[in-house]
Amino acid sequence: MEAWIRAFVLILLFPTFSEAVVRHYTFKVVMKNYTKLCSTKSIATVNGKFPGPTLRAREGDNVLINVINNINSNVTIHWHGIRQLRTGWSDGPAYITQCPIQPGQSYLYNFTVTGQRGTLLWHAHISWLRSTLHGAIVILPQKGTPYPFPKPAKEKIIVLGEWWKADTEAIINQATQSGMPPNVSDAHTMNGYTGPVRGCSVSSKGTYTLHVDHNKTYLLRIVNAAINDEIFFKIASHKFVVVEVDASYTKPFTTETVYITPGQTTNVLLKTDQSPSGKYLIAMSSFMDAPVAVDNITNYGLLRYKGGHLGSPLALTSMPLINATQSQLKFINSLRSLNSKKYPVNVPLTIDHSLFMTMGVGVNPCATCLNGNKLVGTLNNITFVMPTIGLLQAHYYKINGVFTDDFPANPITTFNYTVANFTGGLGTLNGTKVYSLPYNSSVQVVLQDTSIIAPESHPVHLHGTNFFVVGMGIGNYDANKDPMNFNLVDPVERNTIDVPTGGWTAIRFRADNPGVWFMHCHLEVHTSWGLKMAFLVKDGDGPNQSIIPPPKDLPKC
Ligand code: C2O
Repeated sequence: MEAWIRAFVLILLFPTFSEAVVRHYTFKVVMKNYTKLCSTKSIATVNGKFPGPTLRAREGDNVLINVINNINSNVTIHWHGIRQLRTGWSDGPAYITQCPIQPGQSYLYNFTVTGQRGTLLWHAHISWLRSTLHGAIVILPQKGTPYPFPKPAKEKIIVLGEWWKADTEAIINQATQSGMPPNVSDAHTMNGYTGPVRGCSVSSKGTYTLHVDHNKTYLLRIVNAAINDEIFFKIASHKFVVVEVDASYTKPFTTETVYITPGQTTNVLLKTDQSPSGKYLIAMSSFMDAPVAVDNITNYGLLRYKGGHLGSPLALTSMPLINATQSQLKFINSLRSLNSKKYPVNVPLTIDHSLFMTMGVGVNPCATCLNGNKLVGTLNNITFVMPTIGLLQAHYYKINGVFTDDFPANPITTFNYTVANFTGGLGTLNGTKVYSLPYNSSVQVVLQDTSIIAPESHPVHLHGTNFFVVGMGIGNYDANKDPMNFNLVDPVERNTIDVPTGGWTAIRFRADNPGVWFMHCHLEVHTSWGLKMAFLVKDGDGPNQSIIPPPKDLPKC
């Protein structure tokens, strides 16, 4: 029996009145031949499963996951969206908060779920291993605390992903060597099922089916674990009520289409109120409104009512076009924090540190690359260079020479960021730079997409804290006018947000979690190219305001 089932059964048998419990998990990273899809290949899995096991906990629980690395590559696991209050050692990004777990080694991740409930995801945070090493995290509210929406009869998890026929480590290694973009994926996955696969004749194999009872309300926990694709998700003839994103409750709103980027999670209520004798298409397709290649194959699953006939008519649905910017923005702009008495919005109203960051892609010389140069990612014209030991260790043990704390708060030069035909220089500076924040300072970051090479929608993820999305717009950010339209009343709170193509997004957060926190584009291709930086939040003077000491089994580089 799996550890969580055992824990669950114990809880059912022996109801306890103590609040928080300790949850033990064992994550064995092992290679497994995966034959469910049209191409058979050996993939890195947790416990032989794809997607990996669901991590379940309640708000307040202490979660212990023993990750045992039984594959030939280094591994780390990131608990995406878990706040990791003072426990940066358990956050997981390789060379940011820890050295990787080497083959044959293990590491015990240890954190307490504080002030969060909803759906998140875990994934490997080194190279491209997260393409198959990922799974859902379900955090239930504390015992006796209801959801702030009608209790669903049942819950289902839907993990969306991407599938390459080739080994994804080979894909990214080849791209790194050539300096060119990596190949797009060959299929999209729904809970591991591919549906149609590029260049593959067996398409009926592996269709995801969601079986439901008639006239019930389901809670769908939708996770985008894809590597590079922002996704539209729909179910024919049915509507969704969005109630939570990134483990933060939202004001409920009704939509036919869910838009979800890599790293994001979205909980929706689904009423199974259609004819039970029908079957209904579930579809996921890519969004890309820039001249950039993505996997354009729509994956289909089926929603079926229990007791429905096998030969029942199939209800189809039409997806938004691949470049449907309006569908993307409509969904994003519909999101508001619940902002209730129990779940108030704590958006900082005054700002101690105001940053403006340009983001995008550039080109740097590379003697060994195909054209003598390579594509790179940038924030404020800096391409982040990965250190060889964890930044958090370097900070904690005061090891000099690993990073500099001079990440610029503004672009080094100003220019027309979103001009149609950018003619300026494409080169970037290299550096391992962090931006230091005093404990408890309030921070605003305006992320500005640029048209250098091509404008593009970037899902930006911040580790260690949630942020509030106070503003978003198309074109160049105007520091004089745009803040007047900021939403400081009920902005959505989350951990990953798009910077729209040729536009900007403004986020605010309070730096109340000491540690080193990665911020990067959650398109893995851009992370690989260096579209990343880190914030260093200093210890406070109070009793619970400093990083806890590192665990004894913290991996060494
Ligand atoms: Cu979901 Cu830094 O990652």
